[in-house]
Amino acid sequence: MALEGDINMQNCRNIDFKNHSDGRGDLVAIEHPKDLPFEIKRVYYIYNVNAETPRGFHSHKDLEQVLLAVNGEIKIRLKTPNEEEIVQLSDPSKGLYVGPMVWREMFDFSDHAVLLVLASHEYDENDYLRNYDDYEKEYAKVYKREVK
Ligand code: TYD
Repeated sequence: MALEGDINMQNCRNIDFKNHSDGRGDLVAIEHPKDLPFEIKRVYYIYNVNAETPRGFHSHKDLEQVLLAVNGEIKIRLKTPNEEEIVQLSDPSKGLYVGPMVWREMFDFSDHAVLLVLASHEYDENDYLRNYDDYEKEYAKVYKREVK
């Protein structure tokens, strides 16, 4: 399992945000273009998730996102037809960038975990690939590669 800071997957990487920490607490600010490779068009957050209830199970064709656990711990399974990695999010100053054509599953939400997602586009159901076989076919088309 990769912790934030140690990920090696196609179209994915970690982003360390500056933590303005002082005696009063911590503050993280996220700005485009200084800290983020895309302009934020949408923000959503997922919370009150039961530890036994995984979510996600989709890829996006074009959307770029940054995922952060602003509270608690959350595991993210990232998959392409050629690689798979599990990343544990637990530090609100570290984001996980997930670009296009990466299958993701979110699971093991700890008590009170909050997953914050910054997204490059508005919600568009046509950008989703929610069936893994369809995702593999699209991946092969996009990358003109045989899927193992
Ligand atoms: P869903 O894609 O099932 O969530 P997850 O990726 O965590 O499995 O989304 C749940 C519902 O929320 C679904 O009805 C679509 C809606 N939704 C929006 O309206 N806007 C959004 O930005 C997102 C991400 C979801």
